[in-house]
Amino acid sequence: MKNYETILVEKRESVAVLTINRPDKLNALKSKVHMEGVEILDELKTDSDVRVVVIRGAGEKAFIAGADISEFADKTPVEQRDVMNSRSLFTVLDTFPKPVIAMINGFCLGGGNELAMACDLRIASDGSRFGQPEINLGIICGGGGTQRLTRLIGESKAMEIILTGDMIDAQTAFNYGLVNYIFSAEELEAKTMELAGKIAEKSPIALQMSKEAVKFASRSNLDEGLRREIDLFAICFSTEDKKEGVSAFLEKRKPIFKGK
Ligand code: COA
Repeated sequence: MKNYETILVEKRESVAVLTINRPDKLNALKSKVHMEGVEILDELKTDSDVRVVVIRGAGEKAFIAGADISEFADKTPVEQRDVMNSRSLFTVLDTFPKPVIAMINGFCLGGGNELAMACDLRIASDGSRFGQPEINLGIICGGGGTQRLTRLIGESKAMEIILTGDMIDAQTAFNYGLVNYIFSAEELEAKTMELAGKIAEKSPIALQMSKEAVKFASRSNLDEGLRREIDLFAICFSTEDKKEGVSAFLEKRKPIFKGK
């Protein structure tokens, strides 16, 4: 894989670790980060050696402190809408066919929180802080914040976070269900990689189907969702991984899934 200006890519066995690498700017998401991130994910999508992706921010201070505010200064409304409508990391992550884990150490704000919410799981260090401070700039969330935060934690809490622009601490984020786990900063990486490694051992096809079905739940009514689940369930019965999973159980051994 080639080198990128704003993102470091590292493969650790079957887990790809993407590090947003602008620590001096608290990893703020300038357009180039979106462009490079989308290119990297396009490549990882079809890389059968990679089964799980972890996204983190460089440095000790921030996961991502939001969109790069300096890019907001002279954009017209139409230019800004085009930026958000184009293939941003948020939309690509949402439909990415492999599980993605956000590993959060420090500020997780604005577009950073929106990016974390577009991932499938969020694991944070206990000193992390979360928020949607757009209101303080006289604007609103534009990367899915009003929609994904509301779906994840409910209207009442989402409304307060969005209207006040205040940050919440990691424990509150955990209590709200915004993050799956919190660990000390020292433990964060090992625990995240442990979880990524565990998921990476599952059938990639069943992971993809599971992700699609769970994501569909917040976009459909119950009847449509249940129908979609049955269709995806049935597709799994056409795979070698299903044969392997069932045989391994009956033979009392660990399955080896090939993603076929
Ligand atoms: N866009 C562009 N630059 C940003 C940024 C952002 N979202 N967040 C931080 N930076 C830059 C700062 O301008 C500063 O750059 P400089 O050293 O060239 O002046 C550098 O990152 C360090 O940030 P700083 O503000 O000095 O750190 P701090 O510890 O005092 O404060 C924050 C940390 C997160 C509270 C503060 O940086 C902040 O409020 N950032 C903006 C958050 C935001 O509103 N995000 C939503 C955008 S829609």
